[in-house]
Amino acid sequence: MITSDILADSHKYIMNTYSRQPLVLVKGRGTKVYDSDGREYIDFVSGVAVCNLGHCHPRVVVALQKQAQRLMHVSNHFHNEPQINLAKVLVANSFADKVFFCNSGTESVEGAIKLARRYAREVLKQDRFEIITMRGSFHGRTYGALSATAQEKFHKGFEPIVPGFRYVPFNDIKAVEGALNAHTCAVLVEPIQGEGGVSVPAPTYLKELRAFCDKNNILLMLDEIQTGLGRTGKLYGYEHAGITPDVMMLAKGLGGGMPIGALLATDKVSQAFTPGAHGSTFGGNPLACAAALAAMEALLEDNIIIPNVALLGAYFQQGLGKLKQKYSFVREVRGQGLLVGMELDIPGKDIVAACLREGLLINCTMDTVLRFMPPLIITEEEIDLLIASIDRIFAKH
Ligand SMILES: Cc1ncc(COP(=O)(O)O)c(C=O)c1O
Repeated sequence: MITSDILADSHKYIMNTYSRQPLVLVKGRGTKVYDSDGREYIDFVSGVAVCNLGHCHPRVVVALQKQAQRLMHVSNHFHNEPQINLAKVLVANSFADKVFFCNSGTESVEGAIKLARRYAREVLKQDRFEIITMRGSFHGRTYGALSATAQEKFHKGFEPIVPGFRYVPFNDIKAVEGALNAHTCAVLVEPIQGEGGVSVPAPTYLKELRAFCDKNNILLMLDEIQTGLGRTGKLYGYEHAGITPDVMMLAKGLGGGMPIGALLATDKVSQAFTPGAHGSTFGGNPLACAAALAAMEALLEDNIIIPNVALLGAYFQQGLGKLKQKYSFVREVRGQGLLVGMELDIPGKDIVAACLREGLLINCTMDTVLRFMPPLIITEEEIDLLIASIDRIFAKH
């Protein structure tokens, strides 16, 4: 089938919820993807921070093939080994004692909201349900996560949203203190706001939030869906702050490309979930868990990938910093590890399209922030290629 016919079918049969590039991707290997016309691209999007190990990592592919031949799905009315083994690895490498599996980021946020409310009601025996969330946040598209997301543009047309969320400015501990009341049960925050424009808070922010939550006996819940699994140069974003949360949400990079989400919590908090309290048909599916286990092991057993992320991120920001000095419409370069943003005074849409023509996939968020989330195995040479291309594109503006 020729590309124009595939695109016509896409417009005809798929609901119009995304503004997509006119590109059909058919193959991926490492840092590269290929379109239906055989053209190669360097991928600085990674399926939105999903393919942290690169596309089609051999260990993930083999694990999927083996598991697909053995057992693809069983109900959570029974136990399955890939699910248990994955939970073991997640617990051994985090603050958490217990895991609940689901299928996406937004579902893990739904689970966190339910867990926080239930913990207050069933364990603390208090009438607390309100969750403080941050302006500019992004937690997902289902109703609970959407309501936690403090950006009205995502709510428009879908009201009424779920009550029980209190929005405060990001990176402002005083505002969090001011939002506390007798009904507050948790604070929900991203260590870095990804969708919200790669906003990096002060290094003390998470520590201050931890102290605030301890003082008031409320839960600190970290949405590490975008920042987790090596993206910022540590396995989890919270490690930079020297704190641990009570609850954490994961998805994106967890499955090495397979859809899976996870809700992690301490024993103290997890006890609020008892049989029947929460569930998912596909959550913890053996196939998705086998892929995630292989991806986790590949990430953890490799001594190079995560330590390199900080170096590559600094190299990347340095290169983009040179463009900031050269072009007055570049407002700021920021980020941590390989979650990098470049804020412009001009719309980013045209720059994304121009990069595409040069064989480079990049992303833009909040209209003016170019966002780069390459596979963690990206090389300096590939970063150089991108920066040289952006330089050429900016020179024409
Ligand atoms: C921080 C954060 N939370 C939640 C989500 C929602 O994840 P999903 O699209 O898998 O539902 C995203 C997706 O971009 C995200 O970046």
